[in-house]
Amino acid sequence: MRRIAVFAGAFDPIHLGHIQVIRSVLERRLADQVVLMPSSAPPYRKPTIPSAALRGLCAAAVADMPGVALADEKPLKSGQSIIEAIRGLRQRYGKAEYLYIVGADKLAGLLHWSKAPKLFSLCCFLVYPREGYAAQDIIRFASPHGLRAELVEMPQVRVSSAMVRAELKKLKDASGMLDPEIARMIALNGLYQLPYETMIRPYMSQRRYQHTLGVRDLAVALARKHGASMQAAAVAALLHDCAKEMKLGLMQAMARHWQITDDPAEMASNALLHGKIAAIFAQQRYDVHDEDVLNAIRYHTTGRPGMSKLELCLFVADKAEKGRRPYPGLEEIRSLMFDRLEAAALVSMRGAKSFVAGRGESYSEETDAAMNYLEGQAAH
Ligand SMILES: [Fe+2]
Ligand SMILES: [Fe+2]
Repeated sequence: MRRIAVFAGAFDPIHLGHIQVIRSVLERRLADQVVLMPSSAPPYRKPTIPSAALRGLCAAAVADMPGVALADEKPLKSGQSIIEAIRGLRQRYGKAEYLYIVGADKLAGLLHWSKAPKLFSLCCFLVYPREGYAAQDIIRFASPHGLRAELVEMPQVRVSSAMVRAELKKLKDASGMLDPEIARMIALNGLYQLPYETMIRPYMSQRRYQHTLGVRDLAVALARKHGASMQAAAVAALLHDCAKEMKLGLMQAMARHWQITDDPAEMASNALLHGKIAAIFAQQRYDVHDEDVLNAIRYHTTGRPGMSKLELCLFVADKAEKGRRPYPGLEEIRSLMFDRLEAAALVSMRGAKSFVAGRGESYSEETDAAMNYLEGQAAH
């Protein structure tokens, strides 16, 4: 008889530990098919992201895995019994042996549940090991109460969704815990972050907003290619021009208050000030305190010596996003940026310098220093 294993959980978000469990079940032929069943967050924990987004991540995570399906029902309501869910599956998939995949920790909790005997009679359990829980002992304890279970032989699952969320909150990609493609989707959709897209919208014209989204998309792609954090790139990009449309007088007042610069040329230029003001807004208004992200925002127009990968990703994305109108050097920057990020930044700086010089305007010394630095890098 066909064996269908149900893997239910919050999957908030789905991580490599979950994938490892599914793979182990299928590779060891404990089931013919695994049905992933995302459920709502339990009542004691506020839901972090919309259930449609959680489902989207689950769908992407298992898209290339033969033998894995996503339950097409609405997510299980919290408190809704797994018993009802398995009955629902039986209606959909018909006669089969139904199995229930649980971690040893969850099984230990289930033993106290009043409806556990009913669930034990309905399906066999596939129990995977969790640190701190003696799976074999728990199975042995519960067997006289009707539990039928097999142990899924696999290394301990040491990743948890809470650990992943903590990393995402720190604007890290949770590498080693999260599939990079899932991390990319999370970054591009701003999941697990403040709703920056909505927060910046009132401060921008339609054109600048579109530019900002274009910068976000490219900065995330560059970050993935060059090993910078995609979460950090997305947030830095969304905030990089949040002060661009402020009146210069107001920017100057802020610059004086925060003692940003004494340089009269810088004080007179929207182009030179807006990144530095945006970095202040990022901290004060948008609750961003990661120094690398703040520097990427602060130096996105001028560059500076010793720019980090993240700073370079934002710098180049700002100059080469898909909505940019053609300008001399744009195609060269685009052709270089995925293979030689520093060279792409250098081409952009040189082009901007000759453009500004041609208009007889002053130019930031930071950019000269940045160019010297990047030329030095290229020489090595
Ligand atoms: Fe800008
Ligand atoms: Fe920009």
